[in-house]
Amino acid sequence: MPTSLEENFYPMERVPQCPFDLPPQLQEIARTAPVSRVRIWDGSSPWLITGYAEARQVLTDARASSDQRLPGYTFAAPQAKAFHTRNRSMPTVDDPEHAHLRRMVTADFSNRRMESLRSVFQQTVDDLIDGLLAAGDSADLFADLAVPMSSKAICEVLGVHHREGERFAALGRVMAVPGSPPEVHAKVVEDMRALLGSLVEAARAEPGDGVIGHLVRAGELPDEEIVATALLLMAAGHGATAHMTTLGTMALLTHPEQVALVRDSQDPVFIANAVEELLRYLSVAHLGRRRVAKEDIEVGGVLIRAGEGIIVATDTANHDPRAFDGDPDELDLTRDARHHLAFGFGVHQCLGQQLSRVLLQVVYGTLYRRIPTLELAVPLRDMSYTLDLAIYGVKALPVKW
Ligand code: HEM
Repeated sequence: MPTSLEENFYPMERVPQCPFDLPPQLQEIARTAPVSRVRIWDGSSPWLITGYAEARQVLTDARASSDQRLPGYTFAAPQAKAFHTRNRSMPTVDDPEHAHLRRMVTADFSNRRMESLRSVFQQTVDDLIDGLLAAGDSADLFADLAVPMSSKAICEVLGVHHREGERFAALGRVMAVPGSPPEVHAKVVEDMRALLGSLVEAARAEPGDGVIGHLVRAGELPDEEIVATALLLMAAGHGATAHMTTLGTMALLTHPEQVALVRDSQDPVFIANAVEELLRYLSVAHLGRRRVAKEDIEVGGVLIRAGEGIIVATDTANHDPRAFDGDPDELDLTRDARHHLAFGFGVHQCLGQQLSRVLLQVVYGTLYRRIPTLELAVPLRDMSYTLDLAIYGVKALPVKW
């Protein structure tokens, strides 16, 4: 067990042969200390919260700020620092400013709204699977199913329609896997911003349905803030659900008894529970929720002083044996995992969670039934993982059937 801060460099490394397991060093820290210090890329030493109860406590404490302008805030990487300090948006500000921004789009992401889109999402998934089957007996499940599915869903919610949708999907593909050089990624973000800008302008003349039209109609935000909100939703909407689709498929295909349960189930309640367990088990938002203490906070018997950075490791908290029955390091689709923290907790809890839930229920509930012989075309250790990005996943998922 490493004891010095220098050895506790966060994020820690995963074992390539075991891509679903948390890094062994992180597991060891979680076993011994629910609150401890780590070293990060900029040389600072924020607090790492690994315990489930401690994570929930911090994420509901208004003194643990998301304001990225405050000194001491822990950025995941220099690019995140450059991007976010330039773009103030919902995840980067505290209440009441945060609540004001969030309220404007809450109805567009409500349970009711997402349930009303379930049949649209089902049609999208069916069409994409028809396309896969018609094209042959192999595919890249990330590029050919997960990204276009996520792209169509978020475009539907934003009110971006077919013709522009194709252009957004192409940009979204690059945003979901920024394996490309930073200047190419920056250019894609700018192209996306320009495209959204033209849609906001068009909505001024004729505000349609969806987030963009609603924000224009509400008349509370200047155009550039509507564009910033839409850009945030596009980026968030393209990445995480797509990676959950592919990583979830990898996890299921390497647990044959579990994939059989999903394939053979006709029960929507079982599928919904399976989605929650996969969200918990994989915890794709794996680099921690970032905060800074605005005042002194005591958690787990440790005093975090005002100005100190905090990383709430929700992935580790989701594997805390004090919070989940059985062995939380195992995938068990029959487990009750509904209280997981994969979407965060507290006021910044994921806005798009119901969108993701419905999409994942549709795609997991359809894919293995329609292609029962689906298998990985490449061993797990040979896949290329997005280890250093905010969302954990693979850059491509070659499959065959
Ligand atoms: C499986 C898919 C997803 C996962 C695992 C996920 C995860 C998360 C997490 C952990 C947070 C909390 C961040 C924090 O506390 O600092 C978050 C916030 C957020 N997510 Fe998601 N997300 C997913 C899908 C989506 C989708 C599809 C959208 C939208 C279109 C979205 C939009 C957002 C937004 C806007 C926030 C910030 C909310 C706020 O600050 O109030 N997410 N997400």
